[in-house]
Amino acid sequence: MHLVLVRTVAGLEKLAAEEVVAAGHRVVEMSKRQVVVEWAPGESARPRLADDVFVVHGVVVDPGRTRDALAAAVRSLELPAGQGAFAVSASFVGPRNFNRFDIEDLVGARLGGRYYSRRDGAVPPAERSEWRVVLDGKTLWVGLRPYAVPLHRRGWRTRTVRGSLHPPVAAAMARLAGIAPDHRVVDPFCGAGTLLLEAHAVEPRASYTGIDRDPTAIAAAHENAAGAGIRWRCGDAARLEGTVDRIVTNPPWNVQLSIGDLTPYLRRWHRALDGRLVAILNPQQAAGFGRGWRVDAVYDLSVAGQHPRIVVAEPSRS
Ligand SMILES: C[S@@+](CC[C@H](N)C(=O)[O-])C[C@H]1O[C@@H](n2cnc3c(N)ncnc32)[C@H](O)[C@@H]1O
Repeated sequence: MHLVLVRTVAGLEKLAAEEVVAAGHRVVEMSKRQVVVEWAPGESARPRLADDVFVVHGVVVDPGRTRDALAAAVRSLELPAGQGAFAVSASFVGPRNFNRFDIEDLVGARLGGRYYSRRDGAVPPAERSEWRVVLDGKTLWVGLRPYAVPLHRRGWRTRTVRGSLHPPVAAAMARLAGIAPDHRVVDPFCGAGTLLLEAHAVEPRASYTGIDRDPTAIAAAHENAAGAGIRWRCGDAARLEGTVDRIVTNPPWNVQLSIGDLTPYLRRWHRALDGRLVAILNPQQAAGFGRGWRVDAVYDLSVAGQHPRIVVAEPSRS
């Protein structure tokens, strides 16, 4: 049994905690962008909703505001020696009289060995291990990533399009969709296919169709899906064929790409959908579920400088 820092997108903490609990692990505590988990032995820590994971090697009380207190806290840490080339990245909450590089350099020096600082924009070598320090206001955590690359980087992702979704966010939406083996699932704004590929990874038996009006996006989705058995088709998002059980989708947010008003699409989907819609929208779009829809849940996220909402809704037929 060891402690693992599951780092995730702001707004997905609760869902990430649910994912690890469902896999048989125990959540110790949750804070912004982080879930601390007592990881049961026998299974590697690869939660799909995680941006990254770090095995905890050092824990002390958060030293608070001053640099001297930080230095003393770092000196008191019991840490293994750094192996090979390594870098450290740090984050903290609240006002401090030091910056992230001060934390990183103190912990790097404490670990010893071939530490590469990121101060002044320096880029550590690609072949390195990565330590993570988090000061969450209560605890100073030091963890080591057990993998060579961050967990959010997916092996299947060779292509992206403008506005491609962060895979852990797509994984959260797939989880919220509650996809069963006999479901027909459609993403009418599929782009490079992130949502359906994340859903397929969890429930490969369902039937998946991705639609996009841009042939380049469809080509990217084909390439990413390499044999996953997902149907991709070039067309308009309003044109769904037959009845579908789930719509999981990421329409343009009118930032990088425009769609204008989503109301005509919602009207068409309402007719085709016999089940749940999970969509990631800008706040204005998210407010557009009027009569005829029952909104079951809304999750406010903060990702890549944007503040989208995941909306879980169903057509109400009464
Ligand atoms: C935000 S991107 C989707 C990104 C996708 N989730 C991914 O991870 O790659 C929105 C997509 O909607 C497509 N699109 C815009 N208007 C459309 C329409 N009317 N019908 C179908 N696709 C449309 C764009 O070509 C773009 O690929």
